[in-house]
Amino acid sequence: MERKTPLISPEDLRRQAEISEYIKGWWQSQGVTPVAYVETYGCQQNEADSEQIRGLLERCGYGFTDSAEGADLVIVNTCAIREHAAQRVFGNVGALVHTKRRHPGQKIFVCGCMMGKPEISERMKKSYPHVDGIFSPHHLWELPEQLYRVLIRHRKAYAVEDSAGAIAEGLPLVRTNKLKAWVSIMYGCNNFCSYCIVPYVRGRERSRLPEDILAECRGLIAEGYKELTLLGQNVNSYGKDLGSGVDFADLIAQVAELPGEFTVRFMTSHPRDASHKLFDTMASHEKIAKQFHLPFQSGNDRILKEMNRHYDRARYLELIDYGRRLMPDIVFTSDVIVGFPGETEEEFEDTISLIEQVRFEALFTFIYSPRPGTPAAAMPDPTPKEEKNRRFDRLLAVQNAISEEKHRALIGKTLRVLVDGKDGELLTARTDGGRLVRLEGDDALIGQFINVTITDATTWSLVGSVAP
Ligand code: 5AD
Ligand code: SF4
Repeated sequence: MERKTPLISPEDLRRQAEISEYIKGWWQSQGVTPVAYVETYGCQQNEADSEQIRGLLERCGYGFTDSAEGADLVIVNTCAIREHAAQRVFGNVGALVHTKRRHPGQKIFVCGCMMGKPEISERMKKSYPHVDGIFSPHHLWELPEQLYRVLIRHRKAYAVEDSAGAIAEGLPLVRTNKLKAWVSIMYGCNNFCSYCIVPYVRGRERSRLPEDILAECRGLIAEGYKELTLLGQNVNSYGKDLGSGVDFADLIAQVAELPGEFTVRFMTSHPRDASHKLFDTMASHEKIAKQFHLPFQSGNDRILKEMNRHYDRARYLELIDYGRRLMPDIVFTSDVIVGFPGETEEEFEDTISLIEQVRFEALFTFIYSPRPGTPAAAMPDPTPKEEKNRRFDRLLAVQNAISEEKHRALIGKTLRVLVDGKDGELLTARTDGGRLVRLEGDDALIGQFINVTITDATTWSLVGSVAP
């Protein structure tokens, strides 16, 4: 089978690199070292995109700052997944009019998932004349060219036209963390869950080549990274567009077999495509963290059908069961939506009963938010907001009690953790299952895998001490 995913051509990438050099020289000729502020909303995919944005900006001569005040360039990387996130973006971009007034040379770009929706990018363009440039996720790699238009030609830059999406290999990256790295293995999504905007804003699934991913991982390990997270909207369909015969389980096995001391994780999985083979691979590779984020969204089969999820409750539970039989200590986390259009009280109770049956370590809980243009947004939704809020609160109470019980059950156990930073006076660390541990200890432990004994626990985290 032939590779379907187009690559951005080396000539096109070279052109962007040349423009970057030009911009860098332009700043140097003015004796200025410009600073940029990149503000990121949304998921890890967006965090990873922002690292590419910083990489491209660094090539253009920019340093970085952590506030819009006084920045020469502000880039707002937006998320479209729920109405609330979108509203915050409009509010915050609106407020940039003031920072720009105080620093008239400031240039403002808005990008990310919201800009993948033409209605929204149009609104941004019309309502916020202080915004200089807008680009959708497909156009990220062209940032130097957009910046050139704005800075040197004094024009507005809009790059939002839809495209099937391609992959730009070899873009520079400025990573925010020195121990943990996101590694995008694929982009886009083909699932079209009826509530979700992602397929409309990030295009179709397209996978990077295994050799490119492995080369990136090798480089990261050599630089001293201790945790690699393979990222995609639906990692289980990795490779389907490549026809190379390498599926996600094969890929993560190849990463885990690289020499060095590190852990590899992945996000996110779809229960339809999660395979027994993947669980088998996890069980047989020590370097693959025993953590599985497997969004179930609803515990009711009718709702799952309406959501276009292509699995049922029984299939979901079977996967959990299979994973636990192979790896008794595996940590499952999940996403769930409350108040999907037409969800009845009984159907909601099925979600509660699934949570009680599975007993996740942690859940990401969302109240359904209609996204214009998705099928669910057109479905009748008679349930009042107050009722949805009540369901949400009940779900949280049930889950919080479970999280606390599961965390407390770890008291007295000794676990291997990666010490990854500080929170006030205490060190922070993550267990293999991804649970947060706070502990006393020397800063020199940061970056090391050590054993800790768990001494206390709350709903959200653990307390430990360095094991003798
Ligand atoms: N409303 C509420 N939650 C949503 N999610 C995705 N789309 C919506 C929506 N329209 C949730 C899903 C997904 C997580 C990233 O966000 O649970 O897994
Ligand atoms: Fe991530 Fe989806 Fe938000 Fe885009 S819309 S940033 S893919 S959560």
